Amino acid sequence: MWGIALLDVRIFDTTLRDGEQTPGVSLTPDEKLRIATRLDELGVDVIEAGSAITSEGEREGIKKVVSEDLSAEICSFTRAVKVDIDAALDCGVDSIHLVVPTSDIHIEHKLRKTREDVKRFAVECTGYAVDHGLLVELSAEDSTRSDFDFLTQVFKEGIEAGAKRICACDTVGMLTPEKAYKFYGNLCKLNVPVSVHCHNDFGLAVANSLAGLRAGAAQVHVTVNGIGERAGNASLEEVVMSLYSLYNVKTKINTQMLYEVSKIVARLTGMYLQPNKAIVGENAFAHESGIHADGVIKKAETYEPITPELVGHQRRFVIGKHIGSSLLKNRLEEMGLRVDQEKFDQIFRRVKTLGDMGKKVTDIDLEAIAEDVLGLLPENAVELEELTIVSGNKVMPTASVKLKIDDKEKLEAGVGVGPVDAAIVAIKKAIKDVADIQLEEYHVDSVTGGTDALIDVVIKLRNGDKIVSARSIQADIIMASVEAFIGGINRILADKKLKESER
Ligand code: KIV
Ligand code: ZN
Repeated sequence: MWGIALLDVRIFDTTLRDGEQTPGVSLTPDEKLRIATRLDELGVDVIEAGSAITSEGEREGIKKVVSEDLSAEICSFTRAVKVDIDAALDCGVDSIHLVVPTSDIHIEHKLRKTREDVKRFAVECTGYAVDHGLLVELSAEDSTRSDFDFLTQVFKEGIEAGAKRICACDTVGMLTPEKAYKFYGNLCKLNVPVSVHCHNDFGLAVANSLAGLRAGAAQVHVTVNGIGERAGNASLEEVVMSLYSLYNVKTKINTQMLYEVSKIVARLTGMYLQPNKAIVGENAFAHESGIHADGVIKKAETYEPITPELVGHQRRFVIGKHIGSSLLKNRLEEMGLRVDQEKFDQIFRRVKTLGDMGKKVTDIDLEAIAEDVLGLLPENAVELEELTIVSGNKVMPTASVKLKIDDKEKLEAGVGVGPVDAAIVAIKKAIKDVADIQLEEYHVDSVTGGTDALIDVVIKLRNGDKIVSARSIQADIIMASVEAFIGGINRILADKKLKESER
């Protein structure tokens, strides 16, 4: 059943049409152009740039893409109505993806027409578009829930009217790989190039697309990151890399651009990826477990099916409770820290304890733990003795702090836009005689959910050329911010003292 060899496969990218139909996603004409340019560099064969009839802005976007004179074929989605085709013609596209619904559910309940009407619309509009110089890919919506004889009748008459390719959409993701193989295999008997278009309602879009290609389909419809309505479409990067690595089948895609293009699409659409997304997710090449990291350090293939470089991604080792000793040793060496076995064991234990508390262990934490264990941390020059905050809907957030700076007490007050800002203003005033510290970055994250969540504050401070990071995790956002800020100040002052003593 699986014996047919795959020939090279064409990639029809519908990120800018089906992908843009993702709830909440709407791209400006310029954003469409930016994505289309990258898709062209990536090497897709067809860019479905949108649906010309949709709006003025959509037409502007499609026209911008057309005017770039890209290598890819530029296509517009159209329904089987002449106004849609005229709008596509007005945009100057090379081809149209002309779609008619073929299932009785769609014909009767959505269109409120008959099968004969649908066939007539498909044939008339195909002829009209071909007569106006467009290449037509005739597509059947909900084809996998359609009567197969009727479906093939629509395609046959469409081909006679001039359609050069046909596409069968698994609109609500009803196929299984076995059904897809049979279904697309039968359509291939019509002797024109067939497109596979699969949705991911059951998480099978990629598997079904591969099965359709395996059965002889020439082209696959995909979106970057698999974005699309409901559970989305088959993802470009997963289909392409499965073809490349598992089936040894070529496409024109420059695989090394996959990660970069994925990030651009995520940023412009606002559809950010789950970390464990295949190929392009942040964890796709990340290793934490001791056994895995140790294996990967010795030979990457032990726990990586492909190299991250092949898709333009990067290998990452994560420090956490599953970390093994060889990865931790590596990280410490990279940080320029030399430790004997006894000190190493202490650091190892403290990293594991932090992990057990459910905390992410960052490089900042590891450095702080290692410096503490190695006795490299100087005495804190600045300590918080007291902090009082007044805040509410009728008062300006105000903070007063008492700091001990080199054993001398210093009292200061500050106002700010909020209580955290007020506390930082007061501390900056109190230390102004010892250092002029600028807050460069401030990130807050909640480690757990709920109003009693642990708050993770990471900051970056600057004093002249010196930049340091500091972090604190506490239930109280003000105390976490103040502790991180004072921790950073102490690092800067320790560095200053060291430099002065070296002079
Ligand atoms: O999934 C689908 O049915 C489609 C068509 C409207 C082309 O995207
Ligand atoms: Zn679709």
